[in-house]
Amino acid sequence: MSLSQQSNASEKGGRIALPCVTESPLTPKGTCLESVKIAIDAGYRHIDGAFVYYNEHEVGQAIREKIAEGRIKREDIFYCGKLWNTCHPPELVRPTLEKTLKILQLDYVDLYIIELPMAFKPGEAIYPKDENGKFIYHETDLCATWEAMEACKDAGLAKSIGVSNFNRRQLEMILNKPGLKYKPVSNQVECHPYFTQPKLLEFCRQHDIVIVGYSPLGTSRDETWVNVSSPPLLKDPVLNAIGKKYNKTAAQVALRFSIQRGVVVIPKSFNPQRIRENFQIFDFSLTEKEMKEIEALNKNVRYVELLM
Ligand code: A2P
Repeated sequence: MSLSQQSNASEKGGRIALPCVTESPLTPKGTCLESVKIAIDAGYRHIDGAFVYYNEHEVGQAIREKIAEGRIKREDIFYCGKLWNTCHPPELVRPTLEKTLKILQLDYVDLYIIELPMAFKPGEAIYPKDENGKFIYHETDLCATWEAMEACKDAGLAKSIGVSNFNRRQLEMILNKPGLKYKPVSNQVECHPYFTQPKLLEFCRQHDIVIVGYSPLGTSRDETWVNVSSPPLLKDPVLNAIGKKYNKTAAQVALRFSIQRGVVVIPKSFNPQRIRENFQIFDFSLTEKEMKEIEALNKNVRYVELLM
């Protein structure tokens, strides 16, 4: 069970091709700090972050404050950080992770993942674009990037390493890499009752790769990055009817469905009540028939189309 603390990225400049971070452009100052502290108090231990969410400094502060309070130890927390698209060249991987650790003020991340399989031109712009507004991509060898990720694990900067938004072909490229030292432990992809990813889930199961499902509640439906033509997940009549039976919300049923099929969930909320609500999913279970009913809701439609 985890807490995702995503906000959108901006395009400020900074050192090692990444902007300096003192404030998130979209999360009002302190919101993330408070949310993470509430989440830790509620029992969350897995925190999903990224440099491009621009709030890693607040996440790190929340973790350190809770450690200082004696509420948790560092080893209780599972922090996932992400390597951004502009940092795929192997020589940038370790400095980028070191920058994240400096922002977090932590010695290591529990999981470090390649956020997306495609690379952007390295440089100060997070979303580099040409004069026509088109993204400037960069040719890199994902296998070389992976070797640099392996070196981060060997250096103790990341306890484990994984990927995100990888399809089967891209996973196979890493798995079949000559001299592979560590397999990806996880693949973070969109996954929820309207996008159940049965084939990828099965492939990952066969290779002991954990699927971490982002947008498990159907996203915040922000039109700037979400395809809102797909119906809102939490209004689904089946999820609501099943929820009624257990005195749970559609959100709790959606989360329970995912964890019951072995998918890790990273629901995002900045609302204290909903942060707590999303953790109350361990006191009921769905029957086989209900699981099948929810599986049948699959529409094979992504909310997060990642058009880049
Ligand atoms: P809020 O931050 O106001 O709680 P996802 O995790 O799929 O990306 O979904 C995130 C969106 O779902 C956010 O807009 C969040 O809003 C909302 N959300 C989080 N938890 C719940 C819940 N239990 N019920 C309804 N909406 C929720």
